[in-house]
Amino acid sequence: MRQGEPVRIVLDNRLEQNTTVHWHGIRLPIGMDGVPGISQPPIEPGESFVYSFTPPDAGTYWYHPHANSLQQLGRGLAGPLLVEEREPPPFDRELVWMIMDWRLGADAQIAAGFGNMMEAGMAGRIGNTVTINGVVPADEPVHAGERVRIRLINGALARIMALRLQGHRPVIVAIDGQPCDPHEPPDGRLLLGPAMRIDVVLDMQGEPGRRYSVTDDFYDGIDYALTHLAYTKAPPARHHPSDAPLSLPHNPLPEPDLKTAERRELLLQGGMMGGRGMRTGGMGMGRAVWAINGVSMTGDGHAGMPPLTTLQLGRSYIVTLRNDTAWWHPIHLHGHSFRVLHRNGEAVPHSIWSDTVLLAPEDSVDIAFVADNPGDWMVHCHVTDHQTAGMMAVIRIGDGLSGR
Ligand code: C2O
Ligand code: CU
Repeated sequence: MRQGEPVRIVLDNRLEQNTTVHWHGIRLPIGMDGVPGISQPPIEPGESFVYSFTPPDAGTYWYHPHANSLQQLGRGLAGPLLVEEREPPPFDRELVWMIMDWRLGADAQIAAGFGNMMEAGMAGRIGNTVTINGVVPADEPVHAGERVRIRLINGALARIMALRLQGHRPVIVAIDGQPCDPHEPPDGRLLLGPAMRIDVVLDMQGEPGRRYSVTDDFYDGIDYALTHLAYTKAPPARHHPSDAPLSLPHNPLPEPDLKTAERRELLLQGGMMGGRGMRTGGMGMGRAVWAINGVSMTGDGHAGMPPLTTLQLGRSYIVTLRNDTAWWHPIHLHGHSFRVLHRNGEAVPHSIWSDTVLLAPEDSVDIAFVADNPGDWMVHCHVTDHQTAGMMAVIRIGDGLSGR
């Protein structure tokens, strides 16, 4: 898609079950947000639905169903969504790495057992096979001297990734689609929870003919090589990295007014091992093992979900997310990008905006945004088993009737 240009997408449901599509990270009207029962009725088998919106922000996004998510996303219904800048940035080349994780049986088929409650109370359904753009990665051919933008997208159900590029110094230029101050990640480690995106710029300073591994070492003791940067034998196209600026043009995001902002707190609760005696109310169909502020909403979204809190249209808010569990959670807010202000009391550098922020156990993160988009918006953990087992809520902006 192109920034500021309308798009129209016809979804033709040829599944044997209902579905919707959520355009993850795009700031669009509530009626296009793809949450069944909340922003639209589920699209029944044989029916179609027209999504139409104008993406206001350039960047790296993705799309996935918001119905029976464990199975529909977990079996592969997802893709990258790129919104191009008005002027193409001065990189030599661009790669998209949509990284997904699968649990395969010995027969190489997707293993059964989605929605296992034991896993739902822990790290979620982590697989045994990681792919880039749908294939078990072979080498990624690169040329010495070139400057490449890599759009990294974690499209896994549950796997958190921490990527390292041996022999290279990636510079982060955007997070969740939104440009930030270009910076190298601490320890050279690119941390990506489910649904998160990072755009890096890489100057290919390796030796022609050599291979450099790209590893993921997030989980202790099970690090693996995701792929390799494989240099062609060609001599370097340039000998010193380009001195063109790395920063991307900013998107038209409304800046929250921190002086007048109202505060809210979302307390993440539940799970195995250290779930602090969860008492929950709320609604849903499945069993709940997680909650936000004591309320568990399970599944993918359904009609009549009452809002956990209501925000006034046009006002600025600072929301504290507190992880009172023993597990990691990538928390996603629909319909908005938010500033990430503080983590555990310390200011977060590099002017970062996100739509999905990763919380380690016990983390507390302050985010801020202008509630400028009316509607009932989901906020949930993007470890899909956590979402569907209760770590989900609705935030209402405005009178709750708007949007359609
Ligand atoms: Cu990508 Cu409701 O999420
Ligand atoms: Cu979670």
